[in-house]
Amino acid sequence: MVTATRTAALAAREAMERLNAEAAPLHIWLRTQANAPAQRPWFRDTGLMASGRIAAGRVGAAQLKPMAHHWRWREIGPYLDRIAEVARNADVSPIEFAERQQFLLTNPGLGGRLQVTSTMRCAVSIYNPGDIAPVHIHTPNASRTILSENGGYTTIEGERCIAARGDLILTPNGTWHDHGNDGADPVIWIDVLDFPLMEFLDCVWLDEEYPGAKEGNVRAQPVTQSDGYSRRLYGKGGLVPAFAAERRGFGPGTSPLFHYRGADVRAGLDELRNEAGDPYEAVTLRFVNPATGAAVFPTLDYRAMMLRTGEETRYKRETSATLYQVIDGHGATQIAGQSFEWEKNDIFVVPGFVWRRHVNRGGDAVLYAISDRPLLDKIGQYRAQGRLPDDSVIELPVSA
Ligand SMILES: [Fe+2]
Repeated sequence: MVTATRTAALAAREAMERLNAEAAPLHIWLRTQANAPAQRPWFRDTGLMASGRIAAGRVGAAQLKPMAHHWRWREIGPYLDRIAEVARNADVSPIEFAERQQFLLTNPGLGGRLQVTSTMRCAVSIYNPGDIAPVHIHTPNASRTILSENGGYTTIEGERCIAARGDLILTPNGTWHDHGNDGADPVIWIDVLDFPLMEFLDCVWLDEEYPGAKEGNVRAQPVTQSDGYSRRLYGKGGLVPAFAAERRGFGPGTSPLFHYRGADVRAGLDELRNEAGDPYEAVTLRFVNPATGAAVFPTLDYRAMMLRTGEETRYKRETSATLYQVIDGHGATQIAGQSFEWEKNDIFVVPGFVWRRHVNRGGDAVLYAISDRPLLDKIGQYRAQGRLPDDSVIELPVSA
């Protein structure tokens, strides 16, 4: 009887599939399978290897899931030198036909898309002395983390920020910006943008028609603020000016401070080295909008974490995905049962839902961590769990 029922069901499915073939030009799909979600109830599966999977068949046809991945600087870094060499010898330099001189990181779980997570794009750029990325404005929020000692400059809303290694420069949604290198050595930085999210929402646009008369270099905007403007206004913890607008450019909810200096970040971490820190995040500082204390972008959160000599964090997992940049030191991050040994300038990604912990391998290590947690917070989807030393699992508070 059971077999007869099953045979009938399969015959019905075949009949449905035949109908599907016929109906496809009408852009409808007759359901022939359960709408199984890709994600298992991750919070119940306490095994260290627990992670999501792609749904089967037609339901999963367009699903993509980012994987944990590690880009080693010693493997990817040499391609910057090769790009720079092509540029130096070029009839038309790559920056002219590609607008940027960079490579983009592609997550092996995302089918070749130019993104490292569902929300983030990451590129590593090199600018030779004299190179300029022309002035433009766009809806994606973007940042650059400077890797070279000579950090070049970015001019944002009339403010020229001259950067050095470890600096974080923000170009929020709706701010005019241009970049360049007027130093003697090449400039290298890591770009991170919420571009894939904006693309998914179909709200990406980019404008290169800078308004008003151009003077001097037509590819750059005029500098209208004195050096250090945003840091002078907003760079003192706990104090913000009462007379200045808290929004620059037209993007609401973004930080009016554009330039966070690596030297200040490192000094801030050093000052906290004797504090207990957090069992899951060690000693961590958040880069925040100084006027509100919120994340610097509505979509992305930026943090700097110091792992002290011999420090090991506990396992944690959260629904947001995090991209890590190794600013200093070496160590390992264990992600869903895999160990990734990292060193200076390496980049790695921890997808949502998977267990991860960090291990210091000697000397201070500093990581910058960029996540889409603010976005998940806003849509009511942020959740995190921690693993205690006895392997029991606890729910972690979701505030900041
Ligand atoms: Fe840009």
